[in-house]
Amino acid sequence: MAYNLLKGKKGIIFGALNEQSIAWKVAQRAVQEGAEIVLSNAPIALRMGELNKLAEECNAPVIGADVTSNDDLLNLFTKTQAHFNGGIDFILHSIGMSVNVRKGIHYTENNYDFTHKGMDISALSLHRVLATAMKLDAINEWGSVVALSYIAAQRVFPDYNDMADNKAYLESIARNFGYQYGVKKHVRVNTVSQSPTRTTAGSGVKGFDGFINYAEKMSPLGNADADQCADYCVSLFSDLTKMVTMQNLFHDGGFSFTGVSESVVEQWAGKS
Ligand SMILES: NC(=O)c1ccc[n+]([C@@H]2O[C@H](COP(=O)([O-])OP(=O)(O)OC[C@H]3O[C@@H](n4cnc5c(N)ncnc54)[C@H](O)[C@@H]3O)[C@@H](O)[C@H]2O)c1
Repeated sequence: MAYNLLKGKKGIIFGALNEQSIAWKVAQRAVQEGAEIVLSNAPIALRMGELNKLAEECNAPVIGADVTSNDDLLNLFTKTQAHFNGGIDFILHSIGMSVNVRKGIHYTENNYDFTHKGMDISALSLHRVLATAMKLDAINEWGSVVALSYIAAQRVFPDYNDMADNKAYLESIARNFGYQYGVKKHVRVNTVSQSPTRTTAGSGVKGFDGFINYAEKMSPLGNADADQCADYCVSLFSDLTKMVTMQNLFHDGGFSFTGVSESVVEQWAGKS
């Protein structure tokens, strides 16, 4: 069902890689709700070609940008402003990558070149996006920026590796830049801490199947899926959440505040 929550709003969606991507679902939902969007991803992701399908469906231009490049971001924002003939109302940052995770390197033995790269792509990029937007005064009054996070920023999930540190950094940037952009232009910045979700990035984490099944059993509402995450992001882009900023918002079916569930206790009953 659509409610026209984003009628007249314009946004940039970073990070749609394929139909499983959370950003893919957010793009579709935002357009259903009346938004106009620009899609962006790394040049290497664009070469895979899948994004063209979404671009056609959403009637959206695709503008490539490696989020570790200031020049690419400057180009993206300049072209987006020209395309919209004005400012931007919302941005989705749905980007994450760790070479240490990809290569299966244990947290205690991380390769720091890989660590730097992952941190740049997964966390510092939010700062770059916001700083570029601020420099160009690209975001409209009461604009909304959402970045996706995971609860490993607060609690230890050993196989999440250095992405845990990246998410903690990402959430800190959302808070600190959220303060600055709030004071300057009433722009709000939040992170959404999403349940484990079957996507390319998610499934790259070692033991992901165990991980997602455990979270399902530990969450009173079950895991939130990518479509439900898209619904939540749309609400955060809308005018209905104008006074929410600098928050890390758990979208996880209650996982984050559950100590243990009856289903998990039952599974362990009688075992020693
Ligand atoms: N899948 C999960 O279980 C889960 C849970 C919580 C949070 N998240 C977060 O959601 C976000 C989206 O991930 P997803 O699960 O949809 O997976 P995904 O693999 O579909 O998306 C990750 C995106 O990051 C992009 N990217 C990587 N390097 C880039 C670069 N240098 N420049 C620009 N873009 C780059 C990829 O091309 C891809 O589109 C990530 O921040 C992820 O950490 C995922």
